[in-house]
Amino acid sequence: MLEAEKADQYKENCIKKYDENVERYIFTYDKDYEGYPGNQKRFDIIRDLIRRHSPQRVLYIGCGACVPMALLIKEFGCEMFGIDFSKKMVEQGRKVLKEHGLNPELVQIGDIENMDTLPDGVFDFVIAVGVFTHLYDDNKAMSNLNKKLKNGGILVVEFRNELFSCYSFNTFSYDFILNTLLAGVDLPQEFGMKVDHFFKERFGILADEKIAPKSTYLKNGIIKKFHNPLNICEVIERWNFCWKENYFYHFHVLPPQFETVNPDLFKKLSLYIEDPTNWRGHIMASAFVSEAEKIQNI
Ligand SMILES: C[S@@+](CC[C@H](N)C(=O)[O-])C[C@H]1O[C@@H](n2cnc3c(N)ncnc32)[C@H](O)[C@@H]1O
Repeated sequence: MLEAEKADQYKENCIKKYDENVERYIFTYDKDYEGYPGNQKRFDIIRDLIRRHSPQRVLYIGCGACVPMALLIKEFGCEMFGIDFSKKMVEQGRKVLKEHGLNPELVQIGDIENMDTLPDGVFDFVIAVGVFTHLYDDNKAMSNLNKKLKNGGILVVEFRNELFSCYSFNTFSYDFILNTLLAGVDLPQEFGMKVDHFFKERFGILADEKIAPKSTYLKNGIIKKFHNPLNICEVIERWNFCWKENYFYHFHVLPPQFETVNPDLFKKLSLYIEDPTNWRGHIMASAFVSEAEKIQNI
C-alpha cells in the first residue's frame, strides 16, 4: 500500500535510480541492443504522432539522456525542449545534444509536478514518457500538462498497462483480480478464503502471503504504478483533454515466465505480434501511449 507521507521519499528513490541508470537507457536505442526493443517501439509511436501533427513547439517531459529527443529534432526540425528530474540524465542529455550539433541548453532539470521548473510559455505538443508510472497522485501533473498546452494542442503520455496483469500470471495478477476487479465485492469469510486460495495457487503465491491492495505498485521504494487503457479516457478527460487513441507497445507473446525458456524465440514471436493498434495489446502489451487533444483551459 502506498502512503502519502512517503511520496517525497519515493520520488527521491526514483531520481536516484535514474541517476544510476543513464547508460542503460542510452543503450536501449543502440543498434547492438539485444534485449526487447520496447523503448524503440515507443519511439516509433511518438515519431508517427509528431509526423502526423507537425508541431512547431514541443515539450518532452522525462526526456532522459535525450537520445530520442535529438533524433526527433533532427528529423522534424521543430523547436523542442526537454525536462527531466534526474541530474545525471540531464548532464548526459546535454552531451548527446552537443554530439548531434544541437544546443545543450534545450534540456533542463525539471519535475512534471512542479510548474516553476517547466519551461516558459505554452506548447502545441507535449510528450510525457516514463513519468506517470512513478507519481503518487496524477492530479498535479495532469493540471500542469493542461496549463502547458495551448488549446488544440496534442498530449502524448505513456502509461504502464494494468490489464497486462491478466496475462502475467503472477503477484500482479493476484493484486489486480482480488483488489481491483473484485474491489467492493464482499464474499462470506469461508468462500473468500477459497477464492483467495484458488488464485494464490494458480499464480504461484504462498498460501499465507499477504498482498495488500496495490502493494505491487511499490518496488524497492519506487512507485511503479499501472493505468487501465479501458478507462484512461476518464483520467485524461477530467483535465479538459479529449482522448483520441491508445497505442500499445512491448507485446509479450506469452506470460513473462516463458521468456527465460527460450529468450530468442520469445523475442522473435513477441516482435511478430507487436502492433500498436491491435486489440490484443490491451492484454499482451505491458505499456501504452495515449494521444489526447487539449480542448480548454482548466
Ligand atoms: C523511462 S525513462 C525514458 C527516458 C527517455 N524518454 C527515453 O526514451 O530514453 C523516464 C525518464 O523520466 C524521468 N522522470 C520520471 N519522473 C519524472 C518527473 N516527475 N519529472 C521529470 N522527469 C521524470 C526519469 O528521470 C527518466 O529519465
